[in-house]
Amino acid sequence: MTYIERMHNKMKVLRTKKTVRILAIESSCDDTGVAIVQNGRQVLSNVLSSQIDIHTRFGGVVPEIASRNHILAIMPLVDKALKDAHLTLQDIDAIGVTQGAGLVGSLLVGLTTAKALSFALDIPLIACNHIKGHICANYLTYQDLTPPFGCLIVSGGHTAVVGVTDYTHLKLFGTTIDDAIGESFDKVARVVGLGYPGGPKIDQISKGIVPKIQFVHHTALKDSPNFSFSGLKTAVINYVHNETTKGNTLDIPQICASFQAEAVSMVVTKALKLCLVNNLSTLCVAGGVSANSYLRNQLTLAGQENGIKVLFPESKYCTDNGAMIGSYAYYLMLSGDCSTLDIPALPNIPLE
Ligand code: KG4
Ligand code: ZN
Repeated sequence: MTYIERMHNKMKVLRTKKTVRILAIESSCDDTGVAIVQNGRQVLSNVLSSQIDIHTRFGGVVPEIASRNHILAIMPLVDKALKDAHLTLQDIDAIGVTQGAGLVGSLLVGLTTAKALSFALDIPLIACNHIKGHICANYLTYQDLTPPFGCLIVSGGHTAVVGVTDYTHLKLFGTTIDDAIGESFDKVARVVGLGYPGGPKIDQISKGIVPKIQFVHHTALKDSPNFSFSGLKTAVINYVHNETTKGNTLDIPQICASFQAEAVSMVVTKALKLCLVNNLSTLCVAGGVSANSYLRNQLTLAGQENGIKVLFPESKYCTDNGAMIGSYAYYLMLSGDCSTLDIPALPNIPLE
């Protein structure tokens, strides 16, 4: 029997088991995450190695350095995840791993480790879409949450509103036509000298500031389900350039708060409208920018005004982590998906 025939048989057995424990690996960008998740919802352990200190001095993630540090971090994290869960490798039923989207060198480290573990332990390998993993972060936080629901995806590389039709399928309602929201947070932070990682720094410095600057009068995509962030980003860059040229002192907290308010207002308005149009009464949020405190406040308030329940993952599951991949891998296992050992890392994967 070939490896894949054996794995398909094992998947059939797993679908009948009361308790399924998946060891999941996430290494798409600069955080290495390993988790053990039981039945898609219970996090038995979740460990993370952040590279923020390493990349800060470069002002952003350097892909080659990121992959080298994933190599150093990954096996000690697998050991730590097992230790924290009081388990051994023999207690693991399947390996989940992020196949993409992300930085190819970073993805390869997680994927190769996952393949090696799958082969050595003779258990299924379940390749996951990173963004669908972010959505599953909500299942870890809300144990009773079930599809269908709407989801606002706000990460470093993606911005979209989708309908989550079941645990593994999405319907795309609207997406960015240029930059992602997280990318624009990072870019603006860099331009005003806050450095990396930009999103959390803008969030922090904007606290308590009433936004007064209007950078763009966004009418172009007003009636479209899609988003654009490049105009807003460019308007902030031009503003900073003009003020500096005039010799004016930059009010950095004010610039950040005003940028943040405009970026957030775009996603809040569209996400709620798309839920109403598609008769979805619950909206979840997924991706790193879901940690943003201003977005959390504004969307919660606007949801209340529009009769839509808005849910955010717990902070520790907002940014990249292994647990969300462990949850998604479980639902892929239930739907029958497992991978061969020759699958490639995919820097870009479509959402649908
Ligand atoms: O989902 P994520 O961890 O990685 C990707 O899949 O891209 O998202 C990273 C993005 C970065 O752009 C980061 O600046 C942003 O999420 N981010 C935030 C906050 N925390 C992380 N943006 C705004 N406010 C935050 N508190
Ligand atoms: Zn992510």
